[in-house]
Amino acid sequence: MAVLEILTYPDERLKLTSDPVERFDQRLLSFIRDMEDTMRAGPGSVGIAASQVGRNIRVVIVDVSGKPDIKNHGKLTLVNPEIIQWDGLAVGREGCLSVPDYTGNVIRAEKIVVKAQDETGGQCEYEMEGFEARAAQHEIDHLDGLLFLDRLVSRRNDLFRRKVYKRSKHVNPGESNQEG
Ligand code: NI
Repeated sequence: MAVLEILTYPDERLKLTSDPVERFDQRLLSFIRDMEDTMRAGPGSVGIAASQVGRNIRVVIVDVSGKPDIKNHGKLTLVNPEIIQWDGLAVGREGCLSVPDYTGNVIRAEKIVVKAQDETGGQCEYEMEGFEARAAQHEIDHLDGLLFLDRLVSRRNDLFRRKVYKRSKHVNPGESNQEG
């Protein structure tokens, strides 16, 4: 098990565009395992992109199966993912391992079709909707150097400081109940 270091905003490396994966080998598989370990180590994480751990290759993992009552495909490793269809729009709250202190309201397509390769190079296609579609769009954005912060309509109205649950004796009481 290897938990990798997560780059956090405003690290400039999060803005890089990632390159397609061309070689499907043992090294890729082992990197993907490390990505998954890193995602699982984060509190309530539903996805991770390679660029968040400093590797600029087009690989993401999405797994919303831990949330109750959500339509999903289980854990998906998407290599070279491409969204080929969009339908509808919805606003929803997002968080990100690279933006640990905030969540934000972001508009995303409600339903998408994603074409990708799996970790051994096989072609696959998924129809996603709701929270899973949102998570996939968020992760694929990382591969193009975008964070949810870049998608907010208004920083003033759509950005929320997370509650501070632990550790700090210096919690600012004014900030303890801002998240909806
Ligand atoms: Ni993220």
